Amino acid sequence: MSSNVSRRLRAPLAVVAVVLGGSISYGEAHSATSSMQAAYMLGCQGCHLDDGRGFPQRGVPALNGFVGNFLKVPGGREYLVRVPGVAQSELSDERLADLLNWMLRTFSSAQLPADFTPYTALEVGRLRKSPLVEVAPVRVELLRRLETVADL
Ligand code: HEC
Repeated sequence: MSSNVSRRLRAPLAVVAVVLGGSISYGEAHSATSSMQAAYMLGCQGCHLDDGRGFPQRGVPALNGFVGNFLKVPGGREYLVRVPGVAQSELSDERLADLLNWMLRTFSSAQLPADFTPYTALEVGRLRKSPLVEVAPVRVELLRRLETVADL
């Protein structure tokens, strides 16, 4: 039983490793993407994991297949910058804006609204000055607003 489980897990993880390794060594055409991927690996992956699946059972939300939904409700755009793991990142405003845009396109392109405008350094710099202290109530309220959105 347990060996079945670990065999089932190992195959997809190996694929992810090959995909990540491949895109990092592709060279200049991919350097902007690779640089964001590296920033994610250093600053975010420890909690949100390589493919953004997180640890929902331990309170680290999954980014993949979901995070873009926040952009569909009022307050969601601000939330993605003010959440402490983002606001308190060591990255410059410009790199953090790039990382957020990369994260949204990489993990959640299917949920991104068609009129999505990428984050700018100016916007991120302004929003990250007030990191959320109480995240849970804000998140709960945003999820409640999302329930009223039809195309999740
Ligand atoms: C120490 C662990 C940790 C690190 C490092 C971390 N996060 Fe998080 N992240 C969390 C937790 C926990 C939450 C849930 C909200 C909260 O309690 O802060 C979260 C929430 C989020 C959310 C909101 C998603 C939602 O569904 O509410 C986004 C977006 C996010 N993180 C992105 C990032 C990015 C990008 C980085 C890297 C710059 C990062 N996080 C680094 C733990 C982390």
